[in-house]
Amino acid sequence: MTQAPYPSTRFRRLRRTPALRDLTRETSLSPGDLIWPVFVRDGEDAADPIPSMPGVHRLTIDRLLPAVEEAATLGIPAVCLFPYTDPALKTELCEEAWNSDNLSNRAVRAIKDAVPEIAVMTDVALDPYNINGHDGIVRDGVVVNDATVEALVKMALAQADSGADILGPSDMMDGRIGAMRTALEDAGHTDVTIMSYSAKYASAFYGPFRDAVGASGALKGDKATYQMDPGNAAEALRLVERDLIEGADMVMVKPGMPYLDICRQVKDAFGVPTYAYQVSGEYAMIRGAADQGWIDGEKVMMESVLGFKRAGCDGILTYFAPEVARRLAG
Ligand code: PBG
Repeated sequence: MTQAPYPSTRFRRLRRTPALRDLTRETSLSPGDLIWPVFVRDGEDAADPIPSMPGVHRLTIDRLLPAVEEAATLGIPAVCLFPYTDPALKTELCEEAWNSDNLSNRAVRAIKDAVPEIAVMTDVALDPYNINGHDGIVRDGVVVNDATVEALVKMALAQADSGADILGPSDMMDGRIGAMRTALEDAGHTDVTIMSYSAKYASAFYGPFRDAVGASGALKGDKATYQMDPGNAAEALRLVERDLIEGADMVMVKPGMPYLDICRQVKDAFGVPTYAYQVSGEYAMIRGAADQGWIDGEKVMMESVLGFKRAGCDGILTYFAPEVARRLAG
């Protein structure tokens, strides 16, 4: 299209007032775009602050329920649970991961009971239960793929049995989506959805999260043999395609802000429900700078989350979800 030159075209005409800007804004944010990741711990009536994520707490189930209720009232459609597991329950084979009474499964049941309208998403990966801190089973120093997939399938079934609406495999093993989908179908869980962490990069932005779930101390080495290399984009598209073929309903890019180009490419290439995870380190950067008075935290929060929508995402996992929703409510 050719554009008539100045002064026929003056872009500033449409920026002159809030009303004109509202009318012409291409992308908008609503509470329905948000998924709220929450950390859960055992015990009663406690909320421990996570030092590397100011403003975020690990909640006991009794404290989690009113918080989830509030999220639902704000219009947030889903929460995603991450358990802080008692170190005494961590083993080489990660058996606690598929214990139907583990913390995560108890929390899922409690939420589905108290706030049935909110979708509950769970994390399918072994790291909270692993003595090594890795997302997979370690043998002779190697994270083994196929044995891990077998464990993940058991874990996914236990989560589905507990009532999880969305399973989020964040482990980056090969073949896990297909194995889970087949097992879910065989078990009659035909309506349980899978949001695959398809393009998950080996990122230093996960540091505060590992503190939050108590995996930092345990982790030996890094996750570069299974998570993606930050230099790769074509590989992300191949992974998304593979996961869709294997039975994923939704796909995710993670981290978020440094990987907006990947979000856009995934959405353009496949047109499927696409999500980004604004991870713990992204939260910590914004919150930390805001707490120092160096940036306007609220405005940066809103701008950063809107950016994901502009990049093609259908939704965003963000620790800011309740604050964003409150701000949208006015
Ligand atoms: C692990 C998992 C991680 C996150 C979500 N699931 C950390 C990792 O891969 O080490 C990171 C989330 C965040 O940083 O906010 N299965």
